[in-house]
Amino acid sequence: MTRSTPPILRAGLIGAAATASGIALTATSGWLIVSASARPVILTLLTAIVAVRAFGIARPAFRYLERLRSHDAALGDLAERRTRTYRRLVPLTPARLGRRGRSEVLTGAVRDLDDEVDAQVRVTVPVLSALLAASVAAALTVLVLPDAGAVVATQVGLAGLLAGGLWRAERSTYAVSLRARAEVARVSALVSGNALELQAVGGTEQASRWLAAAHEDLVRATTRQGRVRSVGVGSLLLLTAGATVASAVLAARADLAGPVAALLVLTPLAVGDALAVLPDAMSARARSLAAAERLQALLEQEPAVRDSGDWPVPTADGAVPGLRLRRVTAAWAGDRAQLGPLDLDLEPGEHVAVVGPNGSGKSTLLAVLARALDPRSGRYELDGDDVRGLDLEQTRALFAVVDDTPHVFASSLRENLRLARPGCGDDEIGVALLDAGLGHWLAGLPEGLDTVLGAGGRGVSGGERARLGIARALLSGRPVLLLDEPVAHLDHPTAEAVVSDLLDASRGRTVVMVSHRLDSLEGFDRVVDLGGTTHRAEVGS
Ligand SMILES: Nc1ncnc2c1ncn2[C@@H]1O[C@H](COP(=O)(O)OP(=O)(O)OP(=O)(O)O)[C@@H](O)[C@H]1O
Ligand SMILES: [Mg+2]
Repeated sequence: MTRSTPPILRAGLIGAAATASGIALTATSGWLIVSASARPVILTLLTAIVAVRAFGIARPAFRYLERLRSHDAALGDLAERRTRTYRRLVPLTPARLGRRGRSEVLTGAVRDLDDEVDAQVRVTVPVLSALLAASVAAALTVLVLPDAGAVVATQVGLAGLLAGGLWRAERSTYAVSLRARAEVARVSALVSGNALELQAVGGTEQASRWLAAAHEDLVRATTRQGRVRSVGVGSLLLLTAGATVASAVLAARADLAGPVAALLVLTPLAVGDALAVLPDAMSARARSLAAAERLQALLEQEPAVRDSGDWPVPTADGAVPGLRLRRVTAAWAGDRAQLGPLDLDLEPGEHVAVVGPNGSGKSTLLAVLARALDPRSGRYELDGDDVRGLDLEQTRALFAVVDDTPHVFASSLRENLRLARPGCGDDEIGVALLDAGLGHWLAGLPEGLDTVLGAGGRGVSGGERARLGIARALLSGRPVLLLDEPVAHLDHPTAEAVVSDLLDASRGRTVVMVSHRLDSLEGFDRVVDLGGTTHRAEVGS
């Protein structure tokens, strides 16, 4: 083993030593028991006794070492791959993640990475150990009785072929069962998430039928998977039985001494035991490959933003940057631009409202400003520098984004706000809540900042939710606030109050707020209208 041998292969070789010790232990135990049955002088058994003890100790010792090495190598590799994956996910977020939530994508990617790396421990090491140890056993058996050696070699070869077949079958059954499971999850979420609507239109029976059909498919897929597995395990057992009987017949014909015959008969049995890891390894391999393919498909998408700029953001710490768009067009996918060409200047501290009909590109404009999407053409400048040359993380850190339904985490009010600025004190949180117009609300909470919100906690109304999102954005201290219809679900007086509180609290910071409510825009310095087929910005009053 040289230094350049991958650590996982080294672990596989140590595993092979453990498996070989197990085979040798069974074989020498047979030898010892049969020899001892003739009641010879104890000294003549000494070699066999020592061998049995040595293999008995070596097997768990090697296995322990193998587990340490293989897990160490796999976990090290996992840590490295996670970092690389997160780095590649950043420029894909959120534009390339489709309709799935970011947390869902992250959970899926973490699970897929685990499954992919798991293959080193559950496939590479056991398969290498089993095949290597079984081949060594076959070679040594040849030295005792060539025909019996040929039987063990055939046993190993056939087990290898069987594993290949199992792998192909596992791969297709796994893919089918995965699809079936995803369909059950999809239909369940659809039915449970829209239970009231389904009830209202009398659709519950139809929904139950969808669920039953998806469930039946899953049962069929799981049964097929189970059948493949049982055929694999059963065939391996039959193979072991056949090899054992063949070895017994050969040993009897060769007229060997009892202990040697016992050794030959027990060897295929022990080899069969070592090869029993193959079916599990093949199903782990199918799972791991499917996970690797999913990850590849996710990460190979063309990033929506370039993450290659490494110039530090020119804006001084805490200062508000000037933003300028020149003939900017942007598209999420395909050739058709969903925004622009658009010219827009946002002076530091300006409060601008963006209006326009559905689909006119208002949210797309915010995505471009926040660097969730790079312009397709034109130039986006931050204090005079093209943003594409600037460090992505630093640039994104200038913007606080609030959408129409800010998420309320199932945690205390304090933690719900503190995530915008970890480590900030209660006084700062109080000020942000006050600025967002939640002073009265906070004063009415008996447990104050310790009040638990979200699932299982205190309910939050639409207006409170919008204000919480705004409080979070204010607390973050980020100099530019981008708000996508934060008051869309509020009644007129509440919406006006929220917007006016927001504008008061963010004096000195730039605010860009998308709104459909043309009636609550008085406090803004400017209104930009993205309406019309040309999507050209017009400066309103
Ligand atoms: N994340 C996305 N991925 C792909 N396409 C998107 C995405 N977001 C928006 N689009 C598309 O971009 C176009 C402009 O949508 P955008 O959301 O910017 O409009 P909008 O003015 O915000 O509309 P609305 O008033 O309905 O919110 C639409 O055709 C939309 O389908
Ligand atoms: Mg929108």
